[in-house]
Amino acid sequence: MIRFSQVTKRFGKVTALDQVTLEVEPSQRLALIGTNGSGKTTLLRALCGLLRVEGRVELYGHDVARAPELALAHLAYMPQVAPPLDAPVRELVRTFCALRGRSPRDVAARAAKLGLDLEAVAATRTRDLSGGMKQKVLAALALAAETKVLVCDEPTANLDARARDAFFEMVAERPPESILVVCSHRLDEVRHFVDRVVEMRDGRVQHDVAIWETKEPRQPSRSAR
Ligand SMILES: Nc1ncnc2c1ncn2[C@@H]1O[C@H](COP(=O)(O)OP(=O)(O)O)[C@@H](O)[C@H]1O
Ligand SMILES: [Mg+2]
Repeated sequence: MIRFSQVTKRFGKVTALDQVTLEVEPSQRLALIGTNGSGKTTLLRALCGLLRVEGRVELYGHDVARAPELALAHLAYMPQVAPPLDAPVRELVRTFCALRGRSPRDVAARAAKLGLDLEAVAATRTRDLSGGMKQKVLAALALAAETKVLVCDEPTANLDARARDAFFEMVAERPPESILVVCSHRLDEVRHFVDRVVEMRDGRVQHDVAIWETKEPRQPSRSAR
């Protein structure tokens, strides 16, 4: 599982994360909500080992900073904004598949469900895709990775309604023991796909509530400090 212990991140005078302590158990689907600038993206980036932070972030018992290759082996990350890659889509997909041991056909199938014909854009520079197309490529890659932990930053912000539905359908098809961490500034969009909502404010966990839409009520999560 995932454990944040006293995680603090400062950018100059801005405290983006202020002593965040949070645990996510296997099979949890967690929505991270909060206004712009509340620290959601920073928390996800800390989870993915993309930032140096004070405190500790662990996945399956491995420290993300000390043993990223172990901690992050089971994690896929869908960033809010695609990096400005010059590589054609085909190369991005091939490289990803080689690293992850996945098949380009699987990525193409996911993209097709999202309404994107990957073959048609194979030769296009990734940076030249439209915002929505980039998000579809990122989503197809992250889902095709089939990792135990899927981390998505505003995954549907640029998607049309059909693609959004298709995205959440594929998320729902993931194995029950897998973990989802999805951040969104719109609770209404993600509430049906999660069983726990953590609200961030000013870099802190403001609320932490369980949602009981499943058959068996869970124990309420530890409330925020
Ligand atoms: N790389 C960075 N450099 C400087 N400030 C940053 C950086 N990343 C985030 N911040 C600041 O940290 C705060 C939290 O940002 P962020 O985590 O992106 O919020 P959210 O995703 O909730 O909108 C904001 O005040 C933002 O300006
Ligand atoms: Mg953000």
